Amino acid sequence: MADAPGTRPHDWDGTTYDRVADPMTRWGTNVLGRLPLRGDETVLDAGCGSGRVTEQLLDRLPESRVIALDASPSMVAAARDRLARFGARVTYVVADLGRPLPLEPASVDAILSTATLHWVRDHDALFGHLAAPLRPGGRLVAQCGGAGNIAAVQHALASIGDGWTGPWTFATPEDTRTRLEAAGFTDIETWLHDEPERFEPGEPFREYLRTVVLGAHLERLGSDAEREAFVDAVAAALPAAEIGYVRLNILATRAG
Ligand SMILES: C[S@@+](CC[C@H](N)C(=O)[O-])C[C@H]1O[C@@H](n2cnc3c(N)ncnc32)[C@H](O)[C@@H]1O
Repeated sequence: MADAPGTRPHDWDGTTYDRVADPMTRWGTNVLGRLPLRGDETVLDAGCGSGRVTEQLLDRLPESRVIALDASPSMVAAARDRLARFGARVTYVVADLGRPLPLEPASVDAILSTATLHWVRDHDALFGHLAAPLRPGGRLVAQCGGAGNIAAVQHALASIGDGWTGPWTFATPEDTRTRLEAAGFTDIETWLHDEPERFEPGEPFREYLRTVVLGAHLERLGSDAEREAFVDAVAAALPAAEIGYVRLNILATRAG
């Protein structure tokens, strides 16, 4: 039986995302700087999107191999285009982080994940799925939306359409620490920080909302006209062309 809309990962527009993903790429560069590597490891990019952060990882570590994993076929296609010059150093996997991953146990040395984990509903299951392919002693370095993320957008969503506020899990650092411990991680650090982001008003902001924030909402609507009306309603309900991002930072090591 097919899953109900909104309960499984939606497909993205990988080409447009690649063009508008400057905020996520900037944050991803910082997160990547927290990943200590010799340079010859196999790294899983969990939610690689169109590969802009993955590309930085591959450029920085010329001997590394990367598993570029994402649930969205369109994103993986965009990543394949962007990362083609790295040839066999990259393996592409279309898979859902909400389910056990199609990777061998202890087959990756480190996991990088940027701007993705809040799209997975069940974080208890998620960290178990990430722990399974990570070798003992391997590092998880991640950042995603955390408690309080996009509060004004969620407030606007509550009064638009059927009031569905989204598929996201915006977890606290404390709950995330508990979940990581339960999944077999140690040396855990989790914290929140604010990343307010301003956009050019009008179509640039609407395009960003449509492509990055509202994909799961728009998938539930029947026609292009309904989808555009929904984007317009969200943009109009916000006080400014601005998104109050709150990021949850995660550092952890797979216990031996
Ligand atoms: C905002 S993008 C971030 C992409 C990239 N890491 C970056 O920083 O640009 C979020 C990504 O998470 C992916 N994603 C969402 N839910 C997922 C899931 N359950 N399993 C795997 N990937 C998922 C989406 O397909 C999308 O590519």
